[in-house]
Amino acid sequence: MTAIVVSGYQAANETLRLSDLRQALYDEGAILMEKVLVNLHGQEHRSRRQIETKVFRRDFFQWYETEVFPHTLKETLAPYLAQGSTDLVDFGFRVMMNLTADFSGVDRPLRSPEETSQLLRILRTFGKAATLGQALGDKEVIRAEVREALDEFDRVFFRPSMERRRLLLEEWARGERAEDSLPRDVLVELLRNEKEHPIGHEVMMKEIGFFLLAGAFTTIHTLTHAMHEIFSWCKDHPEDALRYKGDRFFLQKAIHESMRLHPSSPTAGRRPTCPVHLPTGQDVTEQDTVSVDLMTANRETAVFGADAADYNPHRPAPKGASPYGLSFGMGMHACIGLNLAAGLLPRADSVADTHQWGTVTLIALELLESGARPDPDRPGVVDRSTIRNNWSSYPMLLGH
Ligand code: HEM
Repeated sequence: MTAIVVSGYQAANETLRLSDLRQALYDEGAILMEKVLVNLHGQEHRSRRQIETKVFRRDFFQWYETEVFPHTLKETLAPYLAQGSTDLVDFGFRVMMNLTADFSGVDRPLRSPEETSQLLRILRTFGKAATLGQALGDKEVIRAEVREALDEFDRVFFRPSMERRRLLLEEWARGERAEDSLPRDVLVELLRNEKEHPIGHEVMMKEIGFFLLAGAFTTIHTLTHAMHEIFSWCKDHPEDALRYKGDRFFLQKAIHESMRLHPSSPTAGRRPTCPVHLPTGQDVTEQDTVSVDLMTANRETAVFGADAADYNPHRPAPKGASPYGLSFGMGMHACIGLNLAAGLLPRADSVADTHQWGTVTLIALELLESGARPDPDRPGVVDRSTIRNNWSSYPMLLGH
């Protein structure tokens, strides 16, 4: 067995598009991830993705950014604003968990702080399954913890959400309910297509748990990295501090720049399903593993400029690459939530009133407008339990 590492930008880009390489990053997290979208391959992957993509149609983002998101964001921030401080990671979890629960299809009937905390605790445990391959602690202990969290999720959240949707779909099928009165979420789509694409209770429950995770975790960590980059840049470039708040296009570009430097996973992992000739010129077989080094590819000077390893919100647009590099993947597993998190890339005729910004830019703007700044007495802490180097806490002061 040979472990191949692909690190050049172009080679990484092309490798991720090869259809004879299957997902391999989450093999160790099988307890949660085995049959979920990101781990499927070929026709099975295509048909599941086709069903779920329906939730993320173009008008969904417009509706979400203007109708759903601002309300939840302000509601979640209000108590912290009154208190004059927050922890960015904890705040990110609270705001994103409620939002991802909505589009995943997880009801929170009580809407109480205790219920939010319970789902948050379950979600944090699911997070450990996704990073098991990169975990540095005792993996069996983590697996047992995930199993318990799955049972709790199924009993308390998933079954009631599923049963409610089944009833709604029955009413809809009998013509007693209009399409637009159905919840707009992934679970509804999976249940609606169950006859043609049966996936079973266990897998459906894990799929929804995985969606919660894929939507919330990545966004939260991306947000924390981005705010840290912005604060650090403002220290040395005070002339840009006002621009971050006043020019949304500049803020979105600055967020994309941080996304490039901090991909949610530093690598993508693949395994050949048959002998494959890689864009690097190497030949690999089913016994080999291919690791695509996104972190290095995203810092290639030939693509992003001589200062590619540094954060520079004024970086000129790279030629033949996205400003966020390969941070949202490429090819069949490319992120289904890209537009939701990062928005659209501005075009020459884009105008601020109708542009789609992405949740990370919208949260960052709300925080900056609320006077967010690092707490000088309590520096942030980086989580060293995985190789991802995410922030586990980031205390901030709020207010002017
Ligand atoms: C800043 C935020 C995000 C980042 C950096 C990110 C990154 C990624 C990356 C790199 C992949 C590809 C994994 C691979 O190739 O192995 C991916 C896939 C995926 N992402 Fe995201 N993601 C983000 C937000 C979201 C959101 C908001 C959602 C929810 C809608 C989401 C749902 C998914 C799903 C379902 C997949 C699997 C797609 C497939 O296998 O077909 N992500 N994401």
